[in-house]
Amino acid sequence: MIKFASDQVGIDDLSVYVPKLFLPTAGEFAAFRSIDPAKLTKGIGIERMSIPDAHEDAATLGAMSMLNLMRRNDISPDQIGKIYVGTESGVDEAKAIGTYIIGMLEKIYGAGSFEDCSTVELKSACIGATLALENLCNWAVLNDEDQVGIVVASDIARYSLNSSGEYTQGAGSVSLLVRKNPRLIAIDGFTGSFTRDEDDFFRPIGASTAVVHGKKSNDCYLTAVGGAFASYKKKILRTGAIKLNDGECLTDHLAHLLFHIPYPRMAEYASASIFRTEWRDLPLWRNVETKIGDEPLPGDFTDMNEYLAKDAEFGKKFSKTEQFQIAYNSKVKDSTTISRLVGNIYTGSLYLGLASLAELHKLVPGQRVCFCSYGSGCSAMVFSGIVQPDVESLPPRNILERLNERTEINMKDYEMLHEKRRTESILDPTDEFAFTGLDEYGYRNYVFAN
Ligand code: HMG
Repeated sequence: MIKFASDQVGIDDLSVYVPKLFLPTAGEFAAFRSIDPAKLTKGIGIERMSIPDAHEDAATLGAMSMLNLMRRNDISPDQIGKIYVGTESGVDEAKAIGTYIIGMLEKIYGAGSFEDCSTVELKSACIGATLALENLCNWAVLNDEDQVGIVVASDIARYSLNSSGEYTQGAGSVSLLVRKNPRLIAIDGFTGSFTRDEDDFFRPIGASTAVVHGKKSNDCYLTAVGGAFASYKKKILRTGAIKLNDGECLTDHLAHLLFHIPYPRMAEYASASIFRTEWRDLPLWRNVETKIGDEPLPGDFTDMNEYLAKDAEFGKKFSKTEQFQIAYNSKVKDSTTISRLVGNIYTGSLYLGLASLAELHKLVPGQRVCFCSYGSGCSAMVFSGIVQPDVESLPPRNILERLNERTEINMKDYEMLHEKRRTESILDPTDEFAFTGLDEYGYRNYVFAN
């Protein structure tokens, strides 16, 4: 990402849209799957999963969050230069999902109203929206006209019934308004990346659910985010944007660490890994080791598997230390609030974390927030931004209130929707975009249902 020398650019506002249906993980679901509910609500950290109704897909969800964003900010189509959509739930192999979104929005704003705007679909698993944001920030800094860009992150996380991924499902969309002189977060231009070819999670062409190697996906996530964080750290320290005093580490200068949240416990594992690396050379590490024993070092073992087992054991003990719990509770936990009630929304999940902080009024002007984005396959990008003075001037989003108004569904309906055996909506679409079916060639038709 380039440095923003003059005008600042970044996230001016955001909006969140999730389906009106949800399935609690405890209760019927846990009973049907013979899983202890505490494993799902505590061990995984998801209490409710957002379930798309029969008339919803990634395009309708995206159109809804974008419509909300436009309405909140009184933006007309001619003010929008670009709509970049991050998704891995594309609805067509060739046609950009953004064109379907534009088609839906033109039902509100008038035919042809978005003609002066461009759109592209960015697929890179859950990191797609971050790459869209990076592109739009670069575009906004060069854009002379006073136009805005919109990132639409929209996905449906779907795993096979009875699989261990099933209880990390979710669906939803986050739209980000990108412009100069943003009111929410000014991106500071420091970025670290990590990419490697992995088979942790992928969805072959034609498959409707992902192939996932669950434990491996957690490991890939930790390696990639750790690598990107190290690269980000090198860059931000080298430029002098952050100077460390004796006994300090980089995380002391980051008010919040936001992570891609496939499930809330993953944010805990990732932050434990980062704090552990950051603290290792600090005086406070002596206190940690005094409590839980010395950290195992690879050089002390001839058997790599034995080392990995000891290292995992140490990691578990570390995550229970008072030092880590204090850091986690003050810098990470709040960002998981909405994800607990929604599940994984893939590429929007990181920004759902930002929405959680905004919703809880935890964004303090002048503070630096660090974003740790991850996409399977795999790629990570760590970047940061500064909370802007006008952050509290944005109209309330009442996301938590709206989540409470959703309708609970039963297992039978959930499974019917999941397997696409039910084509009739559970709730009649009201005040929202709805998919109405394919034409004879496979083109998708949508309406706005009043
Ligand atoms: P699993 O086998 O269901 O769970 O797999 P587990 O056995 O690892 O247990 C999870 C935690 O629950 C553990 O906590 C257990 O102890 C605890 P820990 O020991 O680590 O602290 N537990 C309990 N807690 C309370 N009461 C109980 C109880 N029992 C156990 N009774 C896994 C979990 C995430 C692997 C699985 O759900 C999965 O495969 N999910 C899908 C893949 C995924 O989300 N991977 C995350 C990293 S990859 C990623 O983020 C990218 C992604 O979003 C896609 C993209 O990029 O597009 C997925």
